[in-house]
Amino acid sequence: MKIIMLGAPGAGKGTQAKMIAEKYCIPHISTGDIFRANIKNGTELGKKAKEFMDKGLLVPDELTCDLVVDRIAKDDCKNGFILDGFPRTIPQAEALDAALVKNNEKMDYAIDVDVPDENIVNRMGGRRACLNCGATYHVVFNPTKVEGKCDNCGSDTVLRDDDKPETVQNRLKVYHDQTQPLIEYYNKQNILKSVDGTQSMDKVFSDITAILGE
Ligand code: AP5
Ligand code: MG
Repeated sequence: MKIIMLGAPGAGKGTQAKMIAEKYCIPHISTGDIFRANIKNGTELGKKAKEFMDKGLLVPDELTCDLVVDRIAKDDCKNGFILDGFPRTIPQAEALDAALVKNNEKMDYAIDVDVPDENIVNRMGGRRACLNCGATYHVVFNPTKVEGKCDNCGSDTVLRDDDKPETVQNRLKVYHDQTQPLIEYYNKQNILKSVDGTQSMDKVFSDITAILGE
């Protein structure tokens, strides 16, 4: 099963993608997590990506597409994968399609987690992320068991650099300009499914599993 998670920043793509990956035993591939791991490890890619991410801008397609195309060619993706945060431009979507077509494959589902902008800003301020394992929490909606420590790995959880209110506004603008057109792109391919992302995390998940099947 090959799935794309679409949705605004903070819509809950990462939260749902992790649960889907676990249930269907497919790898969760988040370009944002990959860039953050590179920033943390001080790689060249990380240095380049950080310049854009800190401003709420997209990392250029040439730094992003090959990374994902290489990742989905790995053995663990043979039975499918879930993409979270990629594609987020039409050229990225075309690059993904082109890579799949070479193997006579195509994406199965593009799931749009729909949340209006006004809900987003509240969510982002309360989000805490583990930069070690990528787990995501929320101080109110999904708190860690021990304050400030990741439940999975015990590392510190932090407010992401790009979750400051002014950067969130930029990310939302970039989303509407560059990523939202993908909804129509996948609608035309007949693989678009929408879920109401303002519901509880569990309800959103059960709506998604109703689409994907048991
Ligand atoms: P990325 O890491 O992908 O960030 P994003 O798309 O902005 O999305 P977020 O991770 O912020 O939100 P999410 O939808 O995963 O929500 P979450 O589950 O955490 O990208 C970051 C940056 O990297 C980009 O801005 C760009 O610069 C760069 N980048 C990445 N991919 C790229 C690409 N393909 N091309 C170019 N650049 C790229 O949930 C949010 C919060 O809400 C959490 O605290 C969560 O606990 C809470 N929450 C979740 N669901 C619910 C619910 N149902 N009810 C209440 N609270 C909830
Ligand atoms: Mg995320």
